[in-house]
Amino acid sequence: MSEVNEVKKIAVIAGDGIGPEVVAEAEKVLKRTEELFGHKFETEHALFGGIAIDERGTPLPDDTLAICKASDAVLLGAVGGPKWDNNSKELRPETGLLGIRKALGLFSNIRPAVIFDCLKEASTLKPEVLEGTDLIVVRELTGGIYFGEKFRRETENGQEAVDTCVYNVSEIERIARQAFEIALTRSKKLTSVDKANVLETSRLWRETVIRISADYPDVELDHVLVDNCAMQLLRRPSSFDVIVTENMFGDILSDEAAMLTGSIGMLSSASLGEGSFGLYEPVHGSAPDIAGQGISNPIATILSVALMFRLTFGYHEAAASIERAVKNVLDAGHRTGDIAVDKSSAIGTTAMGDLIVAAMSK
Ligand code: IPM
Ligand code: MG
Repeated sequence: MSEVNEVKKIAVIAGDGIGPEVVAEAEKVLKRTEELFGHKFETEHALFGGIAIDERGTPLPDDTLAICKASDAVLLGAVGGPKWDNNSKELRPETGLLGIRKALGLFSNIRPAVIFDCLKEASTLKPEVLEGTDLIVVRELTGGIYFGEKFRRETENGQEAVDTCVYNVSEIERIARQAFEIALTRSKKLTSVDKANVLETSRLWRETVIRISADYPDVELDHVLVDNCAMQLLRRPSSFDVIVTENMFGDILSDEAAMLTGSIGMLSSASLGEGSFGLYEPVHGSAPDIAGQGISNPIATILSVALMFRLTFGYHEAAASIERAVKNVLDAGHRTGDIAVDKSSAIGTTAMGDLIVAAMSK
């Protein structure tokens, strides 16, 4: 646990699209936290993603990585946009994202999907199906098909492309342990998702998760095939608590789970490694279509700060203060356009940030 007035270094990566707007609001929350709780933060801004490609010719400049490595945590807005979509692989924001995850050893990605009662009407699912949904997807982030060997080759039938999916036991063990630990802090229920009826990596995954489960006798473990999981998430989302799965399945299922809540603009995420270091970012993307208009929803980024306080700094009181402020502002009826039923009454990014800052209290 950290000392109250130890200075915490936070690397701030605003990124592309709406990234800078939402990060600016999160920085106001950091400042207000200092005033209210006496914590001290030192922020350093770094270039990353499309803007880094434009200004430095690479999505992940070395000094950005160095700033991140010298920090206690990273706050990331969003990266990417149509401007860079047709670039070669080295000059794509996504390549920077995969690179930073690998370089910082962030093997675990945690994405909570929780229904905010006052936003139930924003979901595409019926309220009675959603009732009680509060789940976390724990996604393996630095292995599998994302990082396996990729190449093309000429064959007698024309060109062929190959993506390899590789997992070793230790990669599976560490993510499994982390998921069991998270399950212990919640309702002690863990669902491991794989495709063990087809894939060898999934069979190793399942065997390994079962072996690790011996160390967590209090956690109830079950195994669900990924296709079935995708279906059950729509049918009975409240039956899940913690889901642990490999990189690619986690990518897909975490988007599905996020969208259940109808509030992708509200959801935060953490990418963690072995220690307390973490990278925190909203689940939503850079939303280039609304960038620069001041209408984006800063709540996911603000809640990512709360997640940072909890998981990296152990500042639980300050985290609760942010979460409470968000709830109060929403309960008072304030909405940005993405979550407003009556769009004409929607407020802008800075107005939402200001309301949340004003609602924070000790
Ligand atoms: C995510 C994104 C990334 C991923 C893309 C942008 C490379 O979809 O963080 O989920 O697939 O991991
Ligand atoms: Mg994704």
